[in-house]
Formats: sequence, structure tokens, C-alpha cells
Amino acid sequence: MPSPSPPQSDHLIFFVNGKKVVERHADPEMTLLFYLRKVLCLTGTKYGCGTGSCGACTVMISKYNPDTKKIRHYSATACLVPLCSLYGAAVTTVEGIGSIKTRIHPVQERLAKCHGTQCGFCSPGMVMSIYTLLRNYPEPTTEQLMETLSGNLCRCTGYRPIVESGKTFCEESTVCQLQGTGKCCMDQEENQFYLEKKEKMCTKLYDESEFRPFDPSQEPIFPPELIRMAEDPHKKTLIFCGEKILWMSPTNMNEVLELRMKYPTAPLVMGNTTIGLNAVLKGEFHPMIISPVGLTELNFVDFTDDGMTIGAGCTLAEIKDILTSTVSEEPKEKTKTYRALLKHLRTLAGQQIRNMATLGGHVASKHDYSDINPILAAGKATLNLISKAEGKRQILVEELFTTSLKEELRDGEVIYSVVIPQLSRWEIITAQRQAQHLENAFAIVNAGMRVQFREGTNTIKDLKMFFGRVGPTTVSASKTCEQLIGRQWNDEMLSEACRLVLDEIRIPPTAVGGMVEYKRTLIISFIFKFYLKVLRELHKLDPRRYPEIPENSISALEEFPIRAPQGIQMFQCVDPHQPPQDPVGHPIMHQSGLKHATGEAVYNVDLPRVDEELLLAVVTSSRAHAKILSIDVSEALEFPGVVDVITAKDVPGENNIDGEIIYAENEVICVGQIVCAVAADTYSHAKQAAEKVKVIYEDVEPQIITIEDAIKYNSFFFKEKKIEKGNIDRAFYYVDEIIEGEIHVEGQEHFYMETQSVLVYPTGEDEEMVIHTGTQYPTHVQDLVAAVLGVPRNRIMCHMKRAGGAFGGKVTKPAVLGAVAAVAAHKTGHPIRFHLERGDDMLITAGRHPLLTKYKIGFMKNGLIKAVDLQYYTNAGCTPDESERVIEYIVLKSETAYDIPNYRCRGRACKTNLPSNTAFRGFGFPQGALAVENYITAVAFKCGLPPEKVRDMNMSKTVNRTAYKELYNPEPLLKCWKECLEKSSFQSRKAAIEEFNKKNYWKKKGISIIPMKYSIAVPNGYETQAASLVHIYQDGSVLVAHGGCELGQGLYTKMIQVASRELKIPSSYIYLSETSTTTVPNASYTAASMGTDINGRAVQVRFLSILRSSSLS
Ligand SMILES: Cc1cc2nc3c(=O)[nH]c(=O)nc-3n(C[C@H](O)[C@H](O)[C@H](O)COP(=O)(O)OP(=O)(O)OC[C@H]3O[C@@H](n4cnc5c(N)ncnc54)[C@H](O)[C@@H]3O)c2cc1C
Ligand code: FES
Ligand code: FES
Repeated sequence: MPSPSPPQSDHLIFFVNGKKVVERHADPEMTLLFYLRKVLCLTGTKYGCGTGSCGACTVMISKYNPDTKKIRHYSATACLVPLCSLYGAAVTTVEGIGSIKTRIHPVQERLAKCHGTQCGFCSPGMVMSIYTLLRNYPEPTTEQLMETLSGNLCRCTGYRPIVESGKTFCEESTVCQLQGTGKCCMDQEENQFYLEKKEKMCTKLYDESEFRPFDPSQEPIFPPELIRMAEDPHKKTLIFCGEKILWMSPTNMNEVLELRMKYPTAPLVMGNTTIGLNAVLKGEFHPMIISPVGLTELNFVDFTDDGMTIGAGCTLAEIKDILTSTVSEEPKEKTKTYRALLKHLRTLAGQQIRNMATLGGHVASKHDYSDINPILAAGKATLNLISKAEGKRQILVEELFTTSLKEELRDGEVIYSVVIPQLSRWEIITAQRQAQHLENAFAIVNAGMRVQFREGTNTIKDLKMFFGRVGPTTVSASKTCEQLIGRQWNDEMLSEACRLVLDEIRIPPTAVGGMVEYKRTLIISFIFKFYLKVLRELHKLDPRRYPEIPENSISALEEFPIRAPQGIQMFQCVDPHQPPQDPVGHPIMHQSGLKHATGEAVYNVDLPRVDEELLLAVVTSSRAHAKILSIDVSEALEFPGVVDVITAKDVPGENNIDGEIIYAENEVICVGQIVCAVAADTYSHAKQAAEKVKVIYEDVEPQIITIEDAIKYNSFFFKEKKIEKGNIDRAFYYVDEIIEGEIHVEGQEHFYMETQSVLVYPTGEDEEMVIHTGTQYPTHVQDLVAAVLGVPRNRIMCHMKRAGGAFGGKVTKPAVLGAVAAVAAHKTGHPIRFHLERGDDMLITAGRHPLLTKYKIGFMKNGLIKAVDLQYYTNAGCTPDESERVIEYIVLKSETAYDIPNYRCRGRACKTNLPSNTAFRGFGFPQGALAVENYITAVAFKCGLPPEKVRDMNMSKTVNRTAYKELYNPEPLLKCWKECLEKSSFQSRKAAIEEFNKKNYWKKKGISIIPMKYSIAVPNGYETQAASLVHIYQDGSVLVAHGGCELGQGLYTKMIQVASRELKIPSSYIYLSETSTTTVPNASYTAASMGTDINGRAVQVRFLSILRSSSLS
């Protein structure tokens, strides 16, 4: 029997940047991000994570509500917006608000001029978040600005300049509000230091008077056609039919219920922040989708005398706005639960997610990390449910999460609304949450708790406690609560509550996110805070019967405020005699700043499609250490669009280059190792086909995962690295005290905003291969690709224009990925595009080396350290990568700023079955120095001295040889130490902090000052060389090329400054296009803080030689 033909697809009509889009074949699988980048070629909107977490893909969506006749502008993460949900919407991307070619928008201009861009990959997202805020609030407050940027990550700038650029639109003054005095720190009397040096130091980084004014009336209007469409009384259910998914957008509640009954397993896609996330992270797939998003019947708020009813289609951001105005108007007593909800509605996820996520979707998702469900459950909220088969019914939110009451949503049922009742006078509710960051981070544990007392007493009549992230969904401590009913609210009850709750809520050791002990501690501290809060409220209710809580406990109840980053940047002013056209020393804007902010800067991932190109998806190992028994690619080869599958057998040259394995051969040595790659016409086809590859493994022992495993199995790379001076063994005999200890520092993910990507194409002649990649080391890419292809290096041309962040993660890894892609290009004869999704990037490329330090320290009672014996172990992972250098650096820099007469430091790089760790900001020094400062603190603690005193005492004081035999003069170090102590008013701050800590039992502050000696560059002289190539054209314009890579640090900007000075011509005559192995061969990597120094000198010398030769001729 022939299968029924799929229903006819409707046309999807929406607007992008003021232009009408009619998509006749809207694919329900497609996100707005994909559509913008790949179909409309609007590459200003970036891909950073694909999960709504980073904000790089932020766009503004505008929708017209025919009931209220209002237009809602909101920021959204395009990576989670299904294309089909956009019917009738107007989308504005970074390209739509301004461009260098036409007119730059003030938001774009100010972000660039305030130095708010470095690599610029986050900048379009930042611009769109601020732009959306201004569309809604032309003169926002700083608090609104902070809130709006809460969902935008930046890995480069540290946020201060970004916030500063946004603050130029705010009503408030933009000066540095030091210590809340409203005065700039430059004006403070106690900062005499600044005043003394004022004439030599500058703080002005930009000139506000240059900014073009922001005129809200000049913004584009909402397309009238969309208003007509929204008001059309004859709207019908829209159907969009894709290759695998059928999307249905019903236009009224009745249709929703009918569809829900007909397709009970089809999800209701509202904000898509659960469904979309699960599709990316868990590979969940739904062949049918019902999307009532924007249905006005689900979008309402009703107030009654007893509380409020919120439509399930209201977004979390809308609810926050409504609750904020309600609590400002209604008496405190009537808004207890609203206040509790507001606490989390500000910090939950980022602004974009809150703009998209709906209340119904949130409740129905029943996430273990839900911040809202514990409060709704504790606050006696009710769900109004409706279905075609059973009509209406009500359940308490609590019933979804309490084992004894267990209720579920039934097939075909829809949450229509949520009723939040008011609480009685003798009821108290609280919401608590602890996350790694105040904003945009999932809670480690959260809680909603409520107690009701018998009127006029402290006897518990009703008690509810719900916790998040301690089980598969929100968990109710119902047994504990039941047992405490009837008890007085006192210390005994508190002890009993803690004991019972820990007994009732068992967190398995395998719990997601681990930290089991910490979670248990958090549960207890939340109960304790609740206890204190309730005591306080009881005191307010009846001050005569219930005393106020002790003063030193009050700090336990104080919240941590979210503050805008403050700061001031001071730099040496240029010499007044310097010619005005010489830009060196001036804080000029990043050469690509405006292009970053307008989305016109082209990154590797933005390179346009090349004819015949194939997309690559890789199959990675699921085993840490195993033999590959077989790889069956037959099913993958059959998959539509697949051209070939590439394995180690296809490598024409070397597959193992100095230990770096390109395609796994015979065995795998870590999870995430590339086993084979599928080349297909689209990435989606390549990815799906990759899932069809069957690899059969046989585990091999040992599987070495941790540093301890490696020590046990004597599994190391390279020889031990060691430095030594003095006589350490003898010194341990005469010291007063010896302490021994160890410290573990864990690794870190790179999370550069632009994930790794490669575009490789054979030119078709003489085995030439052209590679574009965002690397820090084009030479290495060229080397590895030449080696895998077995061709001389002169056939391989590697180009890089800029990278969206690198931080060390793009020194070696792009070469391996380039080699993987080059083999595919060689085999298929097609250009190959290989772009890692965030998850694959994190899995394959690894990051910072975890470090174990064992120390033995001998010191005198006065804190003077006489002997140090250190043993470092890094977890290098499965291949050598940069690990030899990393451990060498850790050992060489291990003395940091201290001069210890008897010193020994040894280091080993452990070979384990983890993905291979690589270079990372500081190149091992942060981990190593942390261990050093840890033992310094231990010595200080033992001697009863302030740590800064022990640091000062043991710091290098005179010219001396380091343990690696270099003559070292500590004069600058000592000057810097003194300056930092003075500038920071260290002692007065410390005294203030000690005073604060005495008064506050539960909240503590701390302050620390740490000296550091850090040498830049690398010890091998040949690697600190650079070269440049300069073309001077007949029109006087100059093209400069050098070996350094633009990673966001502004290297090209600095090179223009150097060239401008040397040639005495304006910067506008000078251009840098890219870094390439074809212009500057054998260039060193751009890392180790030496990029400007070595390349700047190369540019300078080249110009000097040009000038010299021209003056000779
Ligand atoms: C990056 C990110 C960070 C986040 N951080 C947090 C956080 O810190 N804290 C937190 O609590 N949450 C967080 N979330 C989760 C977020 O709050 C939820 O994903 C969101 O509320 C779900 O709503 P939605 O409208 O997007 O649901 P959708 O994804 O559209 O739907 C989710 C589910 O709900 C069902 N559904 C939707 N509406 C109804 C209805 N009316 N009746 C019955 N079923 C319905 C659907 O069938 C589907 O199964 C985060 C999410 C993301 C993406
Ligand atoms: S939030 Fe969309 S790519 Fe990160
Ligand atoms: S400038 Fe923000 S990520 Fe680089």
C-alpha cells in the first residue's frame, strides 16, 4: 500500500531586517541561526554554543499582539528559535541596525570605541542585546543594562568595557563610582598616589563627545503587513512539513486540544528552550510538533482577591515584569510568593532565555534544576489543566513532585494556567539558590520552603520544603515536614529538621554534577537560612513574644547584589613631544572594532560556500583505551548525501606525527579520539551518517585516567624535568618547622567563542592544498598537513585572518583538525569544511592540564623559608601535544617571586587515557603558582603571621641566580610590590575587612596580595624570531604581512601603529589582510605574550631596511 502523501506545506512569512521573507519549504528542524547564516548568508549572527547559553547568536524578535495592539521587542538566542515559530515575526539582526558601508548604529560605534571588542566574536550578540534594551527603554538604568547582558558571554574583555559602552546610554553618570561615594577614584583624597602621578598617567580611553547621538525615533518601524496578518480574523492552522518533521501551529485553544488528543506524544513547542536544548544535547527527536506559541488564549494574567492566575504561554520575562510592578503596588504581605519568585526570575538563565521560555513549558519540563517549580510547589500554586477527552481539572504543583501524591500530566492534557494564591499573615515563604555564578548558571542546589504557623504562635501548622538538583526532578522533603508539624520554631526543631532531611534526601554518588557532600551542606545551610528568616518574620509579627535574631547572624540573610563591574584603566601618557600623527602609545580602537560590532568581520566559520564543498562529521571513540576490532561504514555510505567515509587507511603520508595521531589506527587511547570522518553534501547528512558507523572495540587494560593512576602504572611522557639549588637535604635538618602537603588543581575548558573550524581545498594542481583555519600557528598546520599528505610543505598554503578567541587552544589543535580535513579533501577531491559543534570541540580538543603538587617546606619560626622540595605532576592526556613544554614551564617558573636558598623542583607529565591537554593561558603557570601560594599560606598560618608578610619576607631582594641559573635583578618586582600595596590601600582595606568580619558571623570578606615573577616568550631563541613582508604600492598604500595571528589581542592594530610610526605616514595608508604561510614562512606561534614584541620588531626592522635602501639608492 502506498504511504500517505505528506500534507502540503504552508508558506512561512516573516521579515528579516525589514525585508519580507517567504519560505516555501520551511524545515521544522531548522533553527533561525542556521537559516540566517546558511540561507540568507547573514553571518553577523554567530554560533558559539548552539544551546542558548552564550548569547553570540542574539537577535531581536518583534511580534504584534492583536489583543493588546502592542508590539513586543525581545532578544532571543537564534540557535534555539525554530524557524517555523517565526510566522508573522520581524527579526532584526546585527546587519539590520547598521553597517560600515551605510551607517553605524550608536550601539555598534560605542561598543567599538569603548574598547568593548577584542576578538569580536561575542560583539554582534552584545550589540543586539543592548539594541533590544534601547528599543524598549531608550534611557535604561544600569541595573537594566546588567540584566540585559546577563545572557551574553565574553571570553576576552572581562565585561567592564562592554558594560561601559552600554552605560553611555544610561541616565546615570558613567564615572567610576568608587566605594559607592559617587566620586571617581581619581578624586579621592586617600588616593594620593594617583594624584602625585596624575601628570604622567592617562585614564581617558575614548572621547564621548565623538559619539553620534542615539535617536530612538530613527529606528525602523514594525512592518504594517505583519500587523494586518496578526489581525486577520481568518487565521488557520499552519503546517510546515520537513524531511523528517511535521510542524503544526494551531490558531486557537480548541485546535490545540484536538491536535494534542490526536498526537499525544507530540510536544507543545513554546519557547523551545527545553525541547531545543534536548535536541542538541541529548539528540532527542520529535517527528510531530504542535506549536501554540503566541496563542493569546494562553497569554494572560488575572488578579483576584486571593492571588493571581498566569497563562501558561506567558514568558518568564513577562512574568517578571508583571510581578515587579505588582510587588511595588501591593502590600508586602500580599506578595510573599511573588517576591520569592522574583528572586529567581532575575537570575535564572540569561535575559534571552527568559524572553523565550514560558511558564507552562517550564513547569511541564520538570527539570531537576528548575528554580521556579520548588517555589510554586511550596507556595501552594495550582495548575489549571485542560484536555479534549477529560475537560478541565486542577492539581497542585506540589502533587507533581511529592511521591505519596504523585500526579502526572495526562495524555492530551495542556497546562492552561497557573494559579498563585496569596499566603496568610502567619505564613512565610523563601526561595534559595546557590550557583557557580549569580547569573546565567544552573543552580547547584535550589529550594523553595514555606511554613504556616497556628495563628499567633510559633507552632508549625504546615511545612513544605522542596529542593532542586538533588534528584531526577524537584524533590519534596515531605516526610521531614510531616514529622515537624506541631513543633515549636526553635533550635531543637532546626537540629531535628537537618537530621531528618539528610536522612530523607539521599543524593546518589552518581548524581549529575557530582559535589554530593557540598550539596548536602547546601541543603542544611538553606534550612538554616530559612530558620533565621522565619525567626525574623516572627519577630516582626509579634515583637514582644519573639525576639530579633542576634545581630551577628543578620549577615546570613543578606543577599549578594549583582553589581556592574567598576574600574579604571591607567596608562602612561604619550610623550608630549611625540608627533601628533604617531599613533604609538595611544589607546586607539581595535582595527576591526567596528567590523566586530557590525558583524562585518569575517571569521573562518563565515567563509562563504565553495563550489562542490563537502561537510565533515567525525566519529569519535567512546572508549578510553581499546582495540578497534572493526569499523563498519557500509550503512553510513548508503546514507543520502554521503560521498565517502575516511579512515586511517586513507592517509597517504604519516598518520602518527611525533605522537599526534590523526585517525585512530588499530586502537583508541581516549574518549573523543577521531576514529573516522564522514564527508557529505550537508552537515546534517554527515552527522546522521556518522551515527550509523559501527565501531567494535575490545577494552584494553590499564585504563589510566587520573594522575594517581599514572603514578601507579609509571605512565609518563618525556624525562623528568628538574631544577635544584643549595643543599636541600641538609637544610631540612636545621629548619624549625617542616610542613608537607599536596594540592590538586583541576583542568579547564577553553571555550574560545569561535569553535575550531577548517576549510581545505585542493587546487587541483601539483598536490597543492589551501587551508583556512583560525589558528595561532599556521606554520604548524602547514607542517602537519604536508606530513599526512606526504608532500613538501611548499604545496600547502595556510591562511588565517582572525580567530574568535584562542587562549592557547588554537596553537596545536587546528593542525590536527586541518590534517583530518586535508586527508578527506585528498581522498574525495572536494573542498572540505570541518566545523566543530561546541560539544565536539570540548570533547576532542581538551584544555588546561590538571596539576597535582606535592610539597615539603622547611622554615624558621619567623616565617623565613629555608628549603622547598616540590614535585609536580600534570595530567597530559593521551598524546604529547605541548605537555613537555607545559611541565617544563611549570618547573622553571615555580620559584615565582621568591628566593628560597635551598630549592628543588621536579615535574612529570602523566600519560593518561584522556583527550590530550594543550596550551592554555599562562601555560601551566597559574596551576603551579597556585600550589606555591598555597604552601606560603600554610607557612603563614603555622607561624601565625599575615600571608603578605611571609610573602614579603621570602621575596627576592637582591641580585641573585635563580634555580635555573639565570642572574635575576628583583628591583622592578620590589617596586611593583610597593606600588601595588600603596595603590590598593592594602593595609586600610585589610583593617576594614577585619572589622567587617568581626561583626559578621556568617558573611566574610577577604583580601590578598600576591607577588609574581613571570617571564614572557620561550627559552628557545629560534622560536622568538619573526619576519615580515611589506608591499608599498604606487598609490602610496602599504600592505604589511607578518607571522603573528590576530586573536583579539589587537596585534594587527599594534602593527599598524608601528608601521605608521616608522614610515611616518597616517595609519589609514596601512593595511593588514591576513597571516599566511605564503607571505611569511616558518613563522613562530602567536602565544607566550610575545606576539607584539617579535612581530612589531620584524615590522619595524623591515621598514628601517626599506628606508635605508631607498635612501642609499
Ligand atoms: C541556556 C539555558 C539556561 C537555563 N537556565 C535555567 C536556570 O538557571 N533555571 C531554571 O529553572 N531553568 C533554566 N532553564 C530552563 C528553562 O527555564 C526551561 O527550559 C523553560 O522554562 C522551558 O520553557 P519553554 O517554553 O521553552 O518550553 P518548551 O521547550 O517549548 O517545552 C518544554 C516541554 O513543556 C511542554 N509544554 C510546554 N507548554 C506546555 C503547556 N502549556 N502544557 C503542557 N505541556 C507544555 C512541551 O510539550 C515540552 O515537553 C534554562 C534553559 C536554557 C536553554
Ligand atoms: S546562545 Fe546561541 S550560539 Fe550560544
Ligand atoms: S571579544 Fe568577547 S569573546 Fe572575544
